Parts: sequence; C-alpha cells; structure tokens
Amino acid sequence: MKAIPTVPLPSGRAMPTFGVGTWRMGESARVRADEVEAVRAAVDRGITLIDTAEMYGDGEAEAIVADAVGARRDGLFIVSKVLPSNASKRGTIAACERSLKRLKTDRLDLYLLHWRGGPALSETLAAFAELKAAGKILDWGVSNFDTDDMRELAALDGAGECATNQVLYNLTRRGIEFDLMPFCAKRGISIMAYSPLEQARMLGDPALKTVAQRHDASPAQVALAWLFRQKGIVTIPKATRLDHLDDNIAALDLILSLEDLRTLDARFPPPKRATPLDML
Ligand SMILES: NC(=O)c1ccc[n+]([C@@H]2O[C@H](COP(=O)([O-])OP(=O)(O)OC[C@H]3O[C@@H](n4cnc5c(N)ncnc54)[C@H](OP(=O)(O)O)[C@@H]3O)[C@@H](O)[C@H]2O)c1
Repeated sequence: MKAIPTVPLPSGRAMPTFGVGTWRMGESARVRADEVEAVRAAVDRGITLIDTAEMYGDGEAEAIVADAVGARRDGLFIVSKVLPSNASKRGTIAACERSLKRLKTDRLDLYLLHWRGGPALSETLAAFAELKAAGKILDWGVSNFDTDDMRELAALDGAGECATNQVLYNLTRRGIEFDLMPFCAKRGISIMAYSPLEQARMLGDPALKTVAQRHDASPAQVALAWLFRQKGIVTIPKATRLDHLDDNIAALDLILSLEDLRTLDARFPPPKRATPLDML
C-alpha cells in the first residue's frame, strides 16, 4: 500500500490522513465475526488509523476493534469519542477508562467530544487535560462542531491543544468549505471527514460515475480521492466488505485531473454562503 501522508498534532505526534470507521459495527452478533475480520484486514493491509466511539454498538464496536487489533496495538492510531451526556469532568474521565478497558489498551491516540451538548465545554476540556497529563489520551479534539462552536472553544483555556474537528464532509456536503474549514485551517486544526461516501448513497451519481469511468475506477474511489487530494483532511471510510476495503485503499493511488475536478464542481458546487453544519 502507498505510504499514507500524515497531519501534525499539538502533541507533536502525527495522524494518518486515511483510516477506517466503525459506525454500525457491534450492533448484531450475527455479523460480528465479519466486522472483526474487516478491521483486522485493514490493519493487515497497513492501515493504522481506526475511528470508533463509545456510542457505536453501545461499546461493542470498541470491543470489536480490540479483537481485531490483538497484539498489534503499538503501531496503530486509535480514535474514540465521549458522548455529550458523559462529558462532565468526572464523566469524561470515567467514559475514557471504560473505552480503554473495552479497547484493551492503556491509551487513546485521540479522544473526541462526539458532539455539543451536555455539561459546559470547559469541564470536558479540564478532563481532556487531566487524561492527557496521565498519558491516557495523547491528543484530544471535537466532533460535529460548527464555526460558532469552534469560536466558543477557542476562547477557553487549553483550546490551543485541540487537534481536530471530525465533521460530515463529502462531495455532497461541502458547506464547511465556506467558513468552518478556513477557521480550522488558520488554527492548524485538521478536519476529519466522516461519512466520506455519504454512507454509499452518493455512489450512483452520474457525474461521479463519469469521472470514475475516465480512470477505470469506482465512484467510491473518486469520492475518496477528491477528499484525499486536499491537504489537512483526514478520511475514515467504513467498509465491512473486504472488496469495499480494497477498493477504498486503491483510491490512494487515484489522482484526479483538473477536468475531473471541474466535472465534480459542476455537479456538487462549492458553497457560496455560510450554511449550518450537517450532522448524521
Ligand atoms: N463523529 C460522528 O458523529 C460520526 C458520524 C458518522 C460517522 N462517523 C465515523 O466515520 C466513519 C465513516 O462514515 P460512515 O460509516 O457513516 O459512512 P461511509 O464511510 O460514508 O459509508 C459506509 C458505507 O459505504 C459502504 N462502502 C464502503 N466502501 C465502499 C465501496 N468502495 N463501494 C461501495 N460501498 C462502499 C459500506 O458498506 P459495507 O460496510 O457493507 O462494506 C457502508 O455501507 C464511521 O464508520 C464512523 O467511524 C463519525
């Protein structure tokens, strides 16, 4: 597999710009073995970034990641998230301990507040600082934060340590390009693009298919290559099927031409005004 570029983090560490997601994993015992195999196969192929959350499968997605990773934890970059309902100072620390236990690890590479709501943001930040000082998390960030949320965050003590904002971003959801993305870029905060394939709903789009045909590629590869070509963007497609996983990894080699970008811009125009952040 091609070497995956990284983005720098406040800790001085680096985060790969391509990884795998795990939402909807851990919800059915019937497919659990396939889900473990999908994450294991991603690691076998050299993917190191795995995105999960205490919410996914009610903790079971984290257990699946642990089973998939086994003894190979050290080379990996594991991201998990605290639910807003747990995000008080004590609640965040307790939630993190539970995630560490399920993940069978002693640290998270990155810990995110899943979305706004619940206790004051300053409490969550205080917990993140304590967890970081204890080595239980190596970096922290946020998720589903719109520009106003980021402004509020920026005014708090310790906000300069924020590593990332994980948000819904793909060809069909370009609103963040207007204000949120420049806001984060200016402060060195990376964007993690979730649902990069719009949960497969965008893959039948004729423009995507046209560009895919030019390269003998798949629409999913075009959608991922479009994200991957942007500096500072991290992408975490989820694939349970191994043919999907391999298709997505092959997108790392796909380079879109100016003509492709024009075709995609015509079909999925960049935003002309500020729009509220979408969330799935
Ligand atoms: N922070 C947040 O609030 C938040 C919200 C949503 C998602 N996320 C994270 O982002 C990750 C990715 O987003 P997502 O899971 O919502 O959606 P996604 O990655 O956009 O799409 C996943 C869907 O696309 C299918 N797929 C994957 N590769 C494909 C390919 N090459 N060709 C055709 N279909 C393909 C998958 O099928 P199979 O599984 O059957 O292979 C699955 O149904 C999540 O898993 C999660 O870790 C975070």
